[in-house]
Amino acid sequence: MLTEERVTSTGAETNEAGQVPLSVTRNGQIYEEPLIFERSSPGRVGFSFPEDDESLEHEVAGDLLRDADDIHLPEVSEPEVVRHFTRLSTWNYGIDLNLYPLGSCSMKYNPRINEEIAALPHFKDAHPAMPVAYSQDVLKVTFDLQTMICQLTDMPAVTLQPAAGAHGELTGLFLMQAYHKKKGEQRKVILVPDSAHGTNPASCTLAGYDVKELKSTRQGLLDLEDLKAHLTPDVAGLMITNPNTVGVFETNIRAIADLLHENDSLLYMDGANYNAIIGQASLGEMGVDVSHLNLHKTFSTPHGGGGPGGAAVVVSDRLKDFLPGPQVMQKDDGSYDLASAKYSIGRMKSGLGHFGVLLRACIFIRSHGNQMGAIAEHAVLNANIVRKNLEEHFAVASDNDSMHEVVFSDSKQKKTGFSTMDLAKALIDYGYHPPTVYFPLSVHGAIMIEPTESESPETLDHFSEVMKDIAARMQSGDEKLSSAPHRAFVTRIDEATAARNPVLNYFTK
Ligand SMILES: Cc1ncc(COP(=O)(O)O)c(C=O)c1O
Repeated sequence: MLTEERVTSTGAETNEAGQVPLSVTRNGQIYEEPLIFERSSPGRVGFSFPEDDESLEHEVAGDLLRDADDIHLPEVSEPEVVRHFTRLSTWNYGIDLNLYPLGSCSMKYNPRINEEIAALPHFKDAHPAMPVAYSQDVLKVTFDLQTMICQLTDMPAVTLQPAAGAHGELTGLFLMQAYHKKKGEQRKVILVPDSAHGTNPASCTLAGYDVKELKSTRQGLLDLEDLKAHLTPDVAGLMITNPNTVGVFETNIRAIADLLHENDSLLYMDGANYNAIIGQASLGEMGVDVSHLNLHKTFSTPHGGGGPGGAAVVVSDRLKDFLPGPQVMQKDDGSYDLASAKYSIGRMKSGLGHFGVLLRACIFIRSHGNQMGAIAEHAVLNANIVRKNLEEHFAVASDNDSMHEVVFSDSKQKKTGFSTMDLAKALIDYGYHPPTVYFPLSVHGAIMIEPTESESPETLDHFSEVMKDIAARMQSGDEKLSSAPHRAFVTRIDEATAARNPVLNYFTK
């Protein structure tokens, strides 16, 4: 019998150890799902071929057949497989369920039309090794996207090869290296402000550069005096995230570019937060030499689950001759072909990059037409609605205007004894995915909220009410908060152990 005190909010009865046993049901639903391996039963199969079908033996060469005993696959029936994964799918939180306020991630709604077009056989089945003559449609989409991204950013050239934002950073750094090498120089240092995204210094190290950190001012902007003090002849460039990770636009960006160029150093602007300025600002006028835009963030490819991403790396005239090859170009007769830049650094990715992501970006831009600027307007407006709703209850990290995201610190909650982590976990009980927490590192107990343009004011107001409710519960010392979430399948886990000793493989248990 289920006893009330041992029934979790999800309906599952816990055992003496407080764990939910396998397959506990209530109202006919299964609330705890074992691993598929734990469902395995020796000899059970999903599909069996007729025993007298000898044709199969001719289909697969004997030396390619594996001994079933060595494979260690779960032995389950087809309905078990289907039900297992269908049940798991109902545990997912996604943008199609509710607001996904993860800061620095632009978790925006992905229009269905993108998916429909990406699934057309014409595009879905295109093979990267097909001759150019038979790939004209794919090349046209890529060429159009190259053209549109250059127009949007006001930059002369672009590569669409990189597989993600960080891969775009590596590409950009290789371009910077090629530029200085061509001049016979080997500059070793990249300057990175303390407000940069974590991938920036990591990519610099991967590219073989030494990183020197620059300070931010109290407003969360790059300290120009600190930049001047660090501009020595061995500086290859500056890598700055703009808008930065405190959600603030670097108003001195042109002055920064000019200072760098006087030293023949280059300006890398991490443009992953492009959602804040899309259709509103010219990277060319800012004096940017190279910048990556995360196609899976700003240009609406579903992301967050480790699926393919993409980055457009736009460059100034200084760097365009070094771009990865091949690029798509249009011939005089209107047809498309592949060509490489004069001093190309070579390939960064096979094929044209992640074509499905490029296709979605192309549709996204086309479907917005000349309204691209409205994306940034709404993204910035939404972040400021949340800021205004919450600024009395949570301390805003920067006095400067917020762009597409707002960052709070935990300073107003400190005395209550509750932490940012308690807030994040409590949000799950109210049906919201937590925002990004403890990032950027420069803000104590950071809570970083990026609503994107997808959300309505009603959703933002409801989310804000929930945040206020949790803040009030913290002030009143509601102890239940320290063990939240109470209504999730998995309650609070030991995150330090999970990070330090991850068990990623069933067989290593
Ligand atoms: C500012 C910034 N730079 C770089 C990246 C890295 O992008 P990716 O995760 O696609 O490698 C991100 C990720 O969201 C980001 O927010």
